[in-house]
Amino acid sequence: MELKMNDTIRTILERRSIRQFKGEQIPKDDLNTIIEAGIYAPSARNLQPWHITVIRDESLIEEVEHEIREYMLNSDNEDLIERAKDGTRTIFHKAPTILLVSGDESNAYMKGDCSNVLQNISLAAWSLGIGSCYIGMGNMLFQTDRAEEFVTRLEIPKGYKSYCWISLGYADGTMPIAPERKDGVVTYIE
Ligand SMILES: Cc1cc2nc3c(=O)[nH]c(=O)nc-3n(C[C@H](O)[C@H](O)[C@H](O)COP(=O)(O)O)c2cc1C
Repeated sequence: MELKMNDTIRTILERRSIRQFKGEQIPKDDLNTIIEAGIYAPSARNLQPWHITVIRDESLIEEVEHEIREYMLNSDNEDLIERAKDGTRTIFHKAPTILLVSGDESNAYMKGDCSNVLQNISLAAWSLGIGSCYIGMGNMLFQTDRAEEFVTRLEIPKGYKSYCWISLGYADGTMPIAPERKDGVVTYIE
């Protein structure tokens, strides 16, 4: 299929989930641009029911990582236990910047709207040469005994709930290949 190519389409097609990052931090002006792109996402009735917590404190990222790993190790889920034991796999992929998108629990479209923010973030980041990876597993933090403490420390607003995390940083290693697309997911009625 012949595609009409431009910078936006190229960014969408070439963005991949990055799970190996360089240690180098991303510049603040790039981060601010990415966040601005994030909050320019569409939202139902323009309620903008989101909040973004930016975490660049290495020791806090390590603490959250450790807490989740402990939770996984102490769970009764064999898969989680194996993943936590695997020293080559980390939750946040050692990214230097982590964002947590939380959303207004009372808003019926919160998940869709927060997903729009994350999508804008991942595409804006890639357009600036910055890799990203959604980290749904980060939400296990709020199943631990210290959930309330982290809600406070991460400054999640009252009435908001963690929706999804996203790691940001410069990609390292070989670029992942795009997973194959499923067939039969489009119906044209013309
Ligand atoms: C809601 C959501 C949660 C995800 N959670 C994780 C995660 O916890 N860890 C991870 O490494 N990747 C996570 N991913 C990334 C997916 O595995 C990835 O998008 C998928 O394999 C397709 O690869 P691509 O992003 O390179 O196209 C998540 C993606 C989404 C949309």
